[in-house]
Amino acid sequence: MVAQTVLSLVLAAAVLTAGHTSSHARVADAGMAAQEAQDASADAIKAVTAPPMGWASWNTFAAKIDYNVIKAQTDALVSSGLKNAGYQYVNIDEGWWQGTRDSAGNITVDTGEWPGGMKAIADYIHSKGLKAGIYTDAGRDGCGYYYPTGRPAAPGSGSEGHYDQDFAQFSRWGFDFVKVDWCGGNAEGLDAPTSYRAISDAIGRATTRTGRPMLLSVCNWGNQSPWNWAPGMSAMWRTSQDIIYYGESPSMDRVLSNFDSAQHPGAQSPGHYNDPDMLIVGMPGFSAAQNRTHLSLWAISGAPLLAGNNLATMSAETRAILTNREVIAIDQDPLGRQGTKVAEDRSGLQVYSKVLDGTGKRAVVLLNRTGSTADITARWSSLGLNGPATVRNVWTEANVGRFAGGYTTSVPAHTAVLLAVTAAGSGTRSG
Ligand code: GLA
Repeated sequence: MVAQTVLSLVLAAAVLTAGHTSSHARVADAGMAAQEAQDASADAIKAVTAPPMGWASWNTFAAKIDYNVIKAQTDALVSSGLKNAGYQYVNIDEGWWQGTRDSAGNITVDTGEWPGGMKAIADYIHSKGLKAGIYTDAGRDGCGYYYPTGRPAAPGSGSEGHYDQDFAQFSRWGFDFVKVDWCGGNAEGLDAPTSYRAISDAIGRATTRTGRPMLLSVCNWGNQSPWNWAPGMSAMWRTSQDIIYYGESPSMDRVLSNFDSAQHPGAQSPGHYNDPDMLIVGMPGFSAAQNRTHLSLWAISGAPLLAGNNLATMSAETRAILTNREVIAIDQDPLGRQGTKVAEDRSGLQVYSKVLDGTGKRAVVLLNRTGSTADITARWSSLGLNGPATVRNVWTEANVGRFAGGYTTSVPAHTAVLLAVTAAGSGTRSG
């Protein structure tokens, strides 16, 4: 009440100073422009109907990227069949820019590394029928300043103070997606919801100028609970720290902890996804079983699928895992639900269920976190289904059979089994 009175007095004073008509008109114009920008951001998100899929440069290349690296990966995305399987973004992560600007404040890049500038690589990606992603930081100095990875520390490699200028620049270059990191934001103690709102609005204004929608990927590692505020402004938001740090080998513990941290099912809906981080499927050090377990967890989560391995050198086995159409369909299910834990009969032996589009359909993960092989049971009652139900083992492509009340199978240590369960009877509860 007091605040409202103070606000009215301030507004009245403003009206008296500026004169009725012009001040009202200006406030109305600013309001309309802000609304237009927010609408543009919202439209970009509305166009997203499934978790974004693609490839991102960070996990394999860290900051050591240039035109040739991105071009080779773009080509491999197409020739490997990943594009046909639904992977569509080629996301340039940290390392493309060393924080330099011209006298007007526009970002400048090393044209030895990026001939034709960033527009040329975005054009190349588009020429293959794919979408292009780029990367910056919400703060003044990006992660490449605080944690240099293969290049000297780069001060000024964030967009703070230049939000409108930079996002308009990305949009003019042709980028369709922008990941905004939080190293500078974090070090400077910025408020994440406020900063990302300003960024989302700047992206909206860029879109109203260029006509090109650009998706925002919020990357503040779960700080300040982005699942509570990011769904209004972005298609995906990171929920944890990195799944792999520069120079490390893949770790199943990190896969599991990132999976756990992403569990915010209430925040997820079509166009809005919890992001447990880019995939490490196919990176040196992971077995096929580990790759399948990792992808099963991302799929049941309905997470964005951004491959992070070297697509130009991957094995046929890795390619087959990444392009498995039934697994991808579970991830991309149009309901956009996040699978949740529905049972844990013994510590570390867990059952996750994701409601799929249609009637009586579930994706189920039987996850064995323990160090020894164990039986895990999915009971239809835990999945909200009345039996009987048919079971398909997704990775082995075997129709296992029809079961009255549930299904039990043996799951090796530290791996998961992915099932498609369909209630067969008329007593099925829908949904
Ligand atoms: C952070 C992000 C990573 C990656 C690096 C780049 O750590 O979480 O995904 O973008 O920065 O430095």
